[in-house]
Amino acid sequence: MSSDSSKLTIVGSGAVGTSAAHWAVARNVAQEIILVDVVEGIPQGKAVDMSQSAPLCGFNGKVLGTCDYADTMNSDVVIITAGLARKPGMSREDLLLKNVQIVKQVTENIVAQSPNAVIVVVTNPIDAMVYTVFKVSGFPKNQVVGMAGVLDSARYRTFLAQALGVAPKDVTALVMGIHGDNMLPLTRLASVAGVPVEELLSRQELEKIVKRTQTGGGEIVQHLKTGSAFTTPGLCAIEMAQSVLWDEKRVLPCAAYLEGEFGISGVFLGVPVVLGRSGVERIVEFRLTEEERSALDDSVEAVKRQVAATGL
Ligand code: LAC
Repeated sequence: MSSDSSKLTIVGSGAVGTSAAHWAVARNVAQEIILVDVVEGIPQGKAVDMSQSAPLCGFNGKVLGTCDYADTMNSDVVIITAGLARKPGMSREDLLLKNVQIVKQVTENIVAQSPNAVIVVVTNPIDAMVYTVFKVSGFPKNQVVGMAGVLDSARYRTFLAQALGVAPKDVTALVMGIHGDNMLPLTRLASVAGVPVEELLSRQELEKIVKRTQTGGGEIVQHLKTGSAFTTPGLCAIEMAQSVLWDEKRVLPCAAYLEGEFGISGVFLGVPVVLGRSGVERIVEFRLTEEERSALDDSVEAVKRQVAATGL
């Protein structure tokens, strides 16, 4: 159940922002849902449309579309989706320089209105954008978190469930590291109702699934041609926002700022975290195998290159 005064702001009313707002209404996740964009009319129109779902899905709150950050004042959670999306042939890194500028501006506007908000960053390339928000906001590390692992793990779980012919919700699996082709879908820790998938699928089958997970975003861009995935990315952002707003303390893979965890410092990286009312409440650390550690080190190098390119 959402608390009485909860306020969720979603910045960017493009495909991902709209999907996030849609899921927020469908899940009745907050009392107030604010959709912000720079383009006059789009967030307003979408908010009116979404508010009319209320009688059908049991949403009891208010949805507001706006171009004015004053309307976002005292948000509990802010999801940043603003930025350009990938086109075919574009890597997430190609987006970097353009989106750094957009995300900087958005962060300044958010911080001025909601100094205590937990910010969930969705804009790509996520590992650099979440660092940008952290630097520009000056927020403590628990208040800034990136969405990627929930999406990558959802893809991984879906592919595993399809291969096994079982219910996707019974598959538990973790993807760590960068949101890019160097991400690390852990086969050792993937299980179906507690049974390790390594006992149920061959090495070749697992390798294929790992590869498809790593390139899962690009697969959708190839189909769509004019953009990237939005339905599930929006839901993943709401899964995280809900855990914060409702203090659920879900353990979700998220890009969190590391200070020595897994032997890594000074970067945001996808790791399992406990998400509660104060944001990233804890990073769940565990021992990696040599092979996993070396894959995670590759991720760290790739993230560091991205962050260096932001010039921050
Ligand atoms: C994806 C994009 C949104 O993974 O990064 O689908």
